[in-house]
Amino acid sequence: MTSNQDRFSSRAEYFEALEDIPVNDTDQPTFGDVVNRRFNRRELLKGALGVVAMGALAPLASMREVEAATVAATGSARSAFGFAGIAHGVDADHHVAPGYSADVLIRWGDKVLPGAATFDPAAHNVSAQLGQFGYNNDFIGYVPLPFGSGNAAHGLLCINHEYTDEELMFPGYGRHDRGFSRLTRDIVDIEMACHGGSVIEVRKHDGKWQVVPDSRYARRITALDTEMALSGPAAGHPRLQTREDPTGRKVIGTISNCAGGITPWGTYLMAEENFNAYFMGSLEGNPEKANYQRYGVPGNRFGWARYHERFDLDAEPNTANRYGWIVEVDPLDPASTPVKRTALGRFKHEGAESIVNRDGRLVLYSGDDQRFEYLYRFVSRDRVNLENRAANRDLLDHGTLSVARFDDDGSLTWLPLVHGYGALTGDNGFHSQADVVIEARRAATLLGATPMDRPEDVEPNPVTGKVYVMLTNNARRGADAVDAANPRGPNIWGHIVELTPDKGDHAADSASWEILVKAGNPADPGAAALWNPATGANDWFACPDNCAVDPQGRLWVATDQGSNWKKASGSADGVWALDTDGAARGTGRMFYRVPVGAEMCGPCFTPDGRTLFVAVQHPATDGTRYFPGFERSSTFEDPATRWPDFDPALPPRPSVVAITKDDGGVIGS
Ligand code: FEO
Ligand code: CA
Ligand code: CA
Repeated sequence: MTSNQDRFSSRAEYFEALEDIPVNDTDQPTFGDVVNRRFNRRELLKGALGVVAMGALAPLASMREVEAATVAATGSARSAFGFAGIAHGVDADHHVAPGYSADVLIRWGDKVLPGAATFDPAAHNVSAQLGQFGYNNDFIGYVPLPFGSGNAAHGLLCINHEYTDEELMFPGYGRHDRGFSRLTRDIVDIEMACHGGSVIEVRKHDGKWQVVPDSRYARRITALDTEMALSGPAAGHPRLQTREDPTGRKVIGTISNCAGGITPWGTYLMAEENFNAYFMGSLEGNPEKANYQRYGVPGNRFGWARYHERFDLDAEPNTANRYGWIVEVDPLDPASTPVKRTALGRFKHEGAESIVNRDGRLVLYSGDDQRFEYLYRFVSRDRVNLENRAANRDLLDHGTLSVARFDDDGSLTWLPLVHGYGALTGDNGFHSQADVVIEARRAATLLGATPMDRPEDVEPNPVTGKVYVMLTNNARRGADAVDAANPRGPNIWGHIVELTPDKGDHAADSASWEILVKAGNPADPGAAALWNPATGANDWFACPDNCAVDPQGRLWVATDQGSNWKKASGSADGVWALDTDGAARGTGRMFYRVPVGAEMCGPCFTPDGRTLFVAVQHPATDGTRYFPGFERSSTFEDPATRWPDFDPALPPRPSVVAITKDDGGVIGS
């Protein structure tokens, strides 16, 4: 290993470094000199948001505006949330607000399929793992049973497994191995079986959730052996054909499944995010070289190509075009074939949350999670059929993919990624819609999309019609490269943008936008954070990543600071409530905190709002060198925490947690 490689003690840190690779060399102009003029003035005049970093902003707005805003914001900040918040901190355990219980529902290695083997980390094998819960749970979706019932005590959970951390999974593996020197075929295949997704049936008994054993719905979807179809404009295209699949219509497996979504017809959407990480090989002589470079392919972060040619660009030059899509799964039919829906574009999809527009069409939002990448939207051609779910089978194959341009006047324009529109012609290498969706990033750049600070989860609020865009951070944005929608450079704390579609129409060509909060410590002038003044010392967060809107339309935000947690907030990640309306707008409150080294993923409410499922991903990995008393990288034998079992024979395990209120009430009441 080189010294540069030694820098990284975990795969999570590799991913962070990966996102630093500047693959987007767009020359799209930024709006640095207009940001303060517009952003600060609009927020101050609106008066709904207080400005804590007042000193930093005062020169940019008249003192009269500042005073007016302060009075308005501090007048009566009545929060929509009733719980008592918890404190920032970091330790080996998880924590939830007083009066609530946080119970582990399922962990890596627990049985999913009927007859699956009992978890035994001393005797891992591929066939056992294929029946067990995968690693690094991320997205969680809830589908009531029976479908359409709204049942909040019995349903299916659809859970993504994003990636693997060998150093915490395999006894004797040692620290993270950048050179893959200790990789074996068994380890690779177990890793691949740990990826993908799980469908489990869950039921609430006496207020506590349980996994239904031997469920007929139980399913594992993996990177190793799950056959999938490709559909939409790129399906069958020569650029998707391989020796393994000369049709370009079939693919084995899905990778890097981050967040996702549940459609109104009850299908489960799995977003393929950092797909580039899995490929190895040379780009020399590969006609896809420029395309691949735009996505950071090959990422060389996994050694699977040694044993599986579909990750080897030398053996299969087109293979990396078959990943980076949204995968649709019918959780109600475990025998169904998952489908990669190419109409939704190929990029590092963070999630795929959708809403039925007022005209009956589906509108789906998806962020491309990399520094300086874009926000996308898909509008279906056809209307959603809520009476007959089978009628929506091909709905995601037809529609219009667009990308967002954020202007300095607070407007947003959706630019259609349609073959023949603007520069998306043969002159620029776009010979069909297939080329447009395969190279969605390049197409978006040509149309003038706005490079954002890592768009992660994007969540439409069905109660208010607003849309919330989580922008995690962007340490690479220079102070001279800020714009109205990305107003800090460098931005290590992230921010949240609120979209308001024109006339409540999610399919409209335009929308308006506001920054809801600029994350980071409001008491630190250097952070130039923006919160409601009612936000207390433990109520702010850094690095918003996933989010959820509860049945009342209230926003909840999950964070992922990565190994930078010490600098970003000094606290472990967690879930915060965040007021969006009235005088309390922009006020946070910490509800749940993960154990050291973990990331908070998957917030998901039951339809009655009385359960919040969360996914604790990679406990004991991120930034454990800053964990007081530990201060080193974790291994299987020596982890920073053994959460959730705290059994000396067991490693830490990524787990899904069910949070309920002890009096049975609504979460956050
Ligand atoms: Fe998988 Fe962008 O988080
Ligand atoms: Ca995420
Ligand atoms: Ca993340």
